[in-house]
Amino acid sequence: MNSTSFHWDAADYAANSSAQYQWGCELIARLALRDSENVLDLGCGDGKLTALMAQQAHTVTGIDASPQMVALAQRRWGGMRNMAFACVDAQQLTFDGVFDAVISNSVLHWVPNHPAVLAGLRRALKPGGRVLLQMPASGNCAQFIEAVDRVRAMPRWRPFFRAFRFPWRFSTECDYTRWLDESGLATQNIITVHKDMCHDSPMSLAGWMRSTWLPYLQCVPSLNRVAFVESVVDDYLCAVPTDAQGRTHVEMVRLEVAAERA
Ligand SMILES: C[S@@+](CC[C@H](N)C(=O)[O-])C[C@H]1O[C@@H](n2cnc3c(N)ncnc32)[C@H](O)[C@@H]1O
Repeated sequence: MNSTSFHWDAADYAANSSAQYQWGCELIARLALRDSENVLDLGCGDGKLTALMAQQAHTVTGIDASPQMVALAQRRWGGMRNMAFACVDAQQLTFDGVFDAVISNSVLHWVPNHPAVLAGLRRALKPGGRVLLQMPASGNCAQFIEAVDRVRAMPRWRPFFRAFRFPWRFSTECDYTRWLDESGLATQNIITVHKDMCHDSPMSLAGWMRSTWLPYLQCVPSLNRVAFVESVVDDYLCAVPTDAQGRTHVEMVRLEVAAERA
């Protein structure tokens, strides 16, 4: 299976992505968009960040490899005149010198070929155009991955995971230093940041897992997926209990990359 072949439940993602939305808002604020600018939202998902940028920029184009995500984005936001969505693989961009800025939030761990993405972004940008990318870095949600690994090793679940391979690429500062150099984009900043992903209840944590851990869930027959998610959440909360308000916390490690086309 490659990154473009997962079946996203776009409505479930839209309802369970408050953490991604919050990080995306922080990223957009840093981009300081002007109302004359054309922006590309790379891996736009359900389009809620695209819609936020459309209030600040001249135009925003959201691309995503998932037909389900693009269909939902078009349904929800299609009424905004300065916004368009298309189903496109980030590794196969064909835009030529049209964007002032590119943003990508929580997408690139799904994509195997980052140099192909960066080459496409360089072509897509106008001279002076800027890129701001945020993605999981090495060490991301390590304790949650440990919980998933413990559960999928249990006799009930093990048979479903015989052919399983870890699906995501968690990049490092070294990776991006090299790839940006090779792409011809000028590096401005590459940093690793630690973020606390907080959900207001174990149910919300389960919603995050159900809506994004597709490579794991799609190994399990659909009738058993709720039980699998419940087992993982129970196991995780034994290791990392809720706080006094009943909220859950997952330590996330993210890579933030800022660059521009000279
Ligand atoms: C966690 S969602 C993030 C969506 C949105 N950026 C946000 O912050 O809410 C990851 C998105 O990456 C998209 N994606 C995965 N592989 C991709 C690829 N090769 N090209 C474009 N989009 C891809 C998925 O379809 C999904 O919509």
